[in-house]
Amino acid sequence: MLEDLKANNRRWAAAKLAVDPGFFERLAGQQTPEYLWIGCSDSRVPANDIVGLDPGELFVHRNVANLAPPQDANYLSVLQFAVDVLKVKHIMVVGHYGCGGVAAAVDGKRRGLVDHWLHPIRETATRCRHELEAIPGETDRLNRLCELNVIAQVRNVASDVFVQDAWARGQKISVHGWIYTIADGLVTDLAVTTSNAAELDRLA
Ligand code: CO
Repeated sequence: MLEDLKANNRRWAAAKLAVDPGFFERLAGQQTPEYLWIGCSDSRVPANDIVGLDPGELFVHRNVANLAPPQDANYLSVLQFAVDVLKVKHIMVVGHYGCGGVAAAVDGKRRGLVDHWLHPIRETATRCRHELEAIPGETDRLNRLCELNVIAQVRNVASDVFVQDAWARGQKISVHGWIYTIADGLVTDLAVTTSNAAELDRLA
């Protein structure tokens, strides 16, 4: 019931104030997050909770299958604000195993608009088909595609002109690829961190 949610909200705000009376007043002044999270919309992957960050500490962009498509105005607006105004130091692309969006991209069924949204994942699956075909089980194959999708999005973010220009200005930004396991709550670092143009070349 929505009344329960409103009551939860009152309790949450009161608990925050009990620990730190100036908490919300400070946040109302400004936000200074050091991190941008690009993650999946999946309700089981709550960005702030997973990494234990408070309001004000994590700038968040979520969409189906954690994509960073270079023509998406929503994502680009978030990226530019994070890089140029907030000057975040880290950008994490966070996928998750068992992603329904990744599975839907390659199951051959037609769903409408989302088939277009998921097109970049089909491109990744085609590009990496030899590696994927060598994996025996379907679950493992899809989970590897979840990882490959994260890596492809890290490449998109790191090669974007907003990030490239920031690096050229001497701004310190690292782009990371993580994947989250819903079954145990743990994040795994895919070790594709990219902090400059030379590292981007190695990733490609
Ligand atoms: Co997902």
